[in-house]
Amino acid sequence: MKLVILGPPGAGKGTQAEYIVKRYNIPHISTGDIFRENIKNNTELGKEAKSYMDKGLLVPDDLVIALVEDRLNKDDAKEGFLLDGFPRTVAQAVSLDSILDKNDEKLTKVINISVDPEILIERAVGRRVCKTCGMTYHVKFNPPKEEGICDKDGTKLIQRDDDTEETVKTRISVYFDQTAPLIDYYRAQNLLVDIDGAKDIDKVFEDIVSGLE
Ligand code: AP5
Ligand code: ZN
Repeated sequence: MKLVILGPPGAGKGTQAEYIVKRYNIPHISTGDIFRENIKNNTELGKEAKSYMDKGLLVPDDLVIALVEDRLNKDDAKEGFLLDGFPRTVAQAVSLDSILDKNDEKLTKVINISVDPEILIERAVGRRVCKTCGMTYHVKFNPPKEEGICDKDGTKLIQRDDDTEETVKTRISVYFDQTAPLIDYYRAQNLLVDIDGAKDIDKVFEDIVSGLE
């Protein structure tokens, strides 16, 4: 399976991605996670990306495309992958098609998760993440057993720098301006699986699986 998961910030892409990659045994390629890892390690790429991410803006296409091309050329991505947070502009989608074309590959499906903007803000602002294992929680919708502590490894949960209400609003409007046009781009290629992301996490996953099989 060669999949893309598309949706606005807070739609549940990362949450569903964890389940999808387990079920289909494919690598989870999240450009946001790759940038956050680079920020943590203080790399040049991390410094550059952070200046955009903190404002809720997109990192320039050329940086992102080069990074994804490298990642897709690794052996573990040859049989399948789940791209999360990429592509995010039409230019990125066109580049992805040509990267895959070069290897005589194409996408299997594009999962498109929709959720109302009001719910998105509440979800993103209440999100808490574990820096050790990457697990995502929500203070209200998906709380850990012990408040503020990761269930798996006991790490203190943190809030992402770009999860303030103001930045989330910018990210949502950037999504509608620059990323939403991809819905038509992929619908025209007959690849789109439309998913209502307002349902419970388990139900959303069930819908994704039936949409893919
Ligand atoms: P990225 O990391 O990709 O963030 P995003 O797209 O804004 O998406 P989020 O991670 O905020 O949301 P999600 O849909 O994964 O939701 P989650 O599952 O966590 O990008 C960050 C930044 O990096 C960008 O702004 C940009 O600067 C840069 N960047 C990355 N890729 C780029 C690219 N290709 N080009 C240019 N720049 C790029 O869920 C959210 C919360 O809701 C969680 O707390 C979760 O527990 C909860 N939740 C999930 N599902 C449900 C449900 N069904 N019911 C109730 N609660 C739920
Ligand atoms: Zn953890």
